Amino acid sequence: MEKREQLYEGKAKKVYATDDSGLLIVSYKDDATALNGLKRGTIAGKGVINNRMSNFFMEKLEKNGIPTHFVKELSERETLVKKVSIVPLEVIVRNIAAGSFSKRYGVEEGVVFDTPTIEFSYKNDALGDPLLNAYHAKALKLATEEEIEQITAYSFAVNEHLKTWWREKGVTLVDFKLEFGRLSDSTVVLADEISPDTCRLWDSETGEKLDKDRFRRDMGGVEAAYTEAAKRIGLL
Ligand code: TMP
Repeated sequence: MEKREQLYEGKAKKVYATDDSGLLIVSYKDDATALNGLKRGTIAGKGVINNRMSNFFMEKLEKNGIPTHFVKELSERETLVKKVSIVPLEVIVRNIAAGSFSKRYGVEEGVVFDTPTIEFSYKNDALGDPLLNAYHAKALKLATEEEIEQITAYSFAVNEHLKTWWREKGVTLVDFKLEFGRLSDSTVVLADEISPDTCRLWDSETGEKLDKDRFRRDMGGVEAAYTEAAKRIGLL
């Protein structure tokens, strides 16, 4: 597999073409942003942890019947993935109230839901990723009804698996964000990443935060939290 030109540089990743038109290389950076790009920083070693953790979960999800973009880990920071066209939706699944949910609805962080929730945001930086519902997504032609149903089913299934895998390691999965993409044949697959950047992870015993909230909220101990999360699932 030959690495070719850089196609894109995002907030946390770079994407390169390869000599195979159906495959891309993703390279994870240590750069971190929050508040829609207003807050910027570096989390040393984050790229390595996010790459390895995301691949660890994508591989396990694939074995459990959830199709993903994952092909092969190439190095500490680089992974070969299937080329997809990203569905411009951020899909957020929540098990416990936190973050924007707590703020929007005036619910204390830590309130456990009877059943998981799902919400969609329109992936659009200029608009600040506004919350929308399935009808809005259809009206804006962001996804078809079938795709939204498929994405919803996959997202709740991902939640059940991730919740179990983290629980076994003494970590509570509070919420997370997923993105999906379409392959050239229009099949929908899980894309982007699953990492402490995109999940809220609380130590089940102490409630300690093992995720990006430590960066978003200037709590300190950011690198140590990412390292601890990776250690829990046996990656370090
Ligand atoms: P929120 O409470 O800020 O809406 O975040 C919910 C979850 O989604 C949390 O685990 C962080 C993750 N997330 C992202 O990965 N990217 C984003 O742009 C946002 C807003 C949230």
